[in-house]
Amino acid sequence: MADGITIAFGPLGPVGQGDLVLFVGDDLLLAPALVRTVGQAAADLVARAAASERFKGKSLSALSVPVPAGLDVDRLVVIGLGSEKDRAKLDWAALGGFTAAKVAGRTAHVALGASDLEASAQNAADFALGARLRSYSFDRYKTRKKSETEESKGTNLTLMVADPAAAEAAAKATDAVAEGVVLARELVNEPPNVLYPAEFARRAEELTKLGVEVEVLGPGKLEALGMGALLAVARGSVKEPRVVIMRWNGADAAEAPIAFIGKGVCFDSGGISIKSAGGMEDMKGDMGGAACVVGTLHALATRKAKVNVVGAIGIVENMPDGDSYRPGDIVTSMSGQTIEVINTDAEGRLVLADVIWHVQGAYKPKFMIDLATLTGAIIVALGQDIAGLFSNDDSLAAKLTAAGEATGEAVWRMPLIPAYDKAIDSKFADMKNTGGRHGGAATAASFIKRYVNDVPWAHLDIAGVAMSSSTSEINRSWGAGWGVRLLDRLVRDHYEG
Ligand code: BES
Ligand code: MN
Ligand code: ZN
Repeated sequence: MADGITIAFGPLGPVGQGDLVLFVGDDLLLAPALVRTVGQAAADLVARAAASERFKGKSLSALSVPVPAGLDVDRLVVIGLGSEKDRAKLDWAALGGFTAAKVAGRTAHVALGASDLEASAQNAADFALGARLRSYSFDRYKTRKKSETEESKGTNLTLMVADPAAAEAAAKATDAVAEGVVLARELVNEPPNVLYPAEFARRAEELTKLGVEVEVLGPGKLEALGMGALLAVARGSVKEPRVVIMRWNGADAAEAPIAFIGKGVCFDSGGISIKSAGGMEDMKGDMGGAACVVGTLHALATRKAKVNVVGAIGIVENMPDGDSYRPGDIVTSMSGQTIEVINTDAEGRLVLADVIWHVQGAYKPKFMIDLATLTGAIIVALGQDIAGLFSNDDSLAAKLTAAGEATGEAVWRMPLIPAYDKAIDSKFADMKNTGGRHGGAATAASFIKRYVNDVPWAHLDIAGVAMSSSTSEINRSWGAGWGVRLLDRLVRDHYEG
């Protein structure tokens, strides 16, 4: 799990041993409150070190200043905030991530409340969130720990702010979100021999400790429900499929729930339409959508969000076998619609079709959002820094876009036009599971749309962002835990009464 970082809040004042982290703008002037704290001698030292190191105070740059004997801190770490314009749009989580990396394995006092920053309680909480997320690394399977190195020691931060109690209260909620992100990252990072469908379901079941109602459906129940599409995908694997329904009831029972649905393909070999060998190991992360749903429910339940949520995940493994589903097969989905299988590697949409249909019928949600590492085509279209958004509802799409801008988990709306729907008409069945090479992400979204009735719905294609995506100040992990912060923010801004 997160490599031991502890974060406390305290008042601005004299500090003991360890690092002292100071923030400066590009004018390199220490704020008066800071000078009072560190003393004029230390302030002069910073000025001289900055000049000799050509430190310009640029945004997210750092200068480390050893201090002479006599001062009680071990080291001054000066972090740049850039120009006034940079400071106006400061990303507090990114600053927290950057700072945590600079003082990794050490004890540090961070002068957040002074400088020109004047961090609010929420700013300080966001800083803490970034520091926690940056400190996460997945090393469960490294038997040779970096035991003698600095990093393994754990980091101790004291964030010095104007109102420590208020910051601590605000950090309760952001800590819950950090835990949810870390859980999602763990699930994505786990190897597929460990995290197969039944084990994934078992981990989701642990949410019961937080007051989440969890129901695990095995093959018998899925058969009884008529989930012929999901079961077709699962047939080639010796690992049984699962569907897990998680319910967090934080609001009035009469209130219709919102629904999050995730693709959980624990390993996607492509099946009979087998993938080429290069990079196939990455397909252990083909459950990033399901991981996000579990992480989000963890976050919402931990912070006792005043909302009713249904989280549903379809968990399978897609393998080649004598009993695999094949190209040419026609399968009947739970909705009754039939699907001609063209390519067994277009499996995620079959899984989602049945889970979405079930959720919509059984729970009558206000709206549904599905998340899936669905297509390579979305990576071609948008790259690895932004997810594709498809929706039948402008208002829901706008809310997701705004939540993306607020959290940095950006989404970009893509079109859904009749031509994409036409592309998946089949000669033999109601539809086929691929629409050809062109517009692959959009024809996949159109496929899912055929399982959505008259309810607001958004589909997030997260193939580019869920794993192996660009690193950031708050993420160095292969499994990004993408989407937990986005969905938490959506709920917080619009659906908590
Ligand atoms: N899981 C893959 C999509 C994917 C690709 C996710 C790369 C993450 C990184 C999905 O099941 C898949 O194989 N999609 C095919 C669809 C095609 C056969 C129509 C694809 O994108 O090539
Ligand atoms: Mn596939
Ligand atoms: Zn897949």
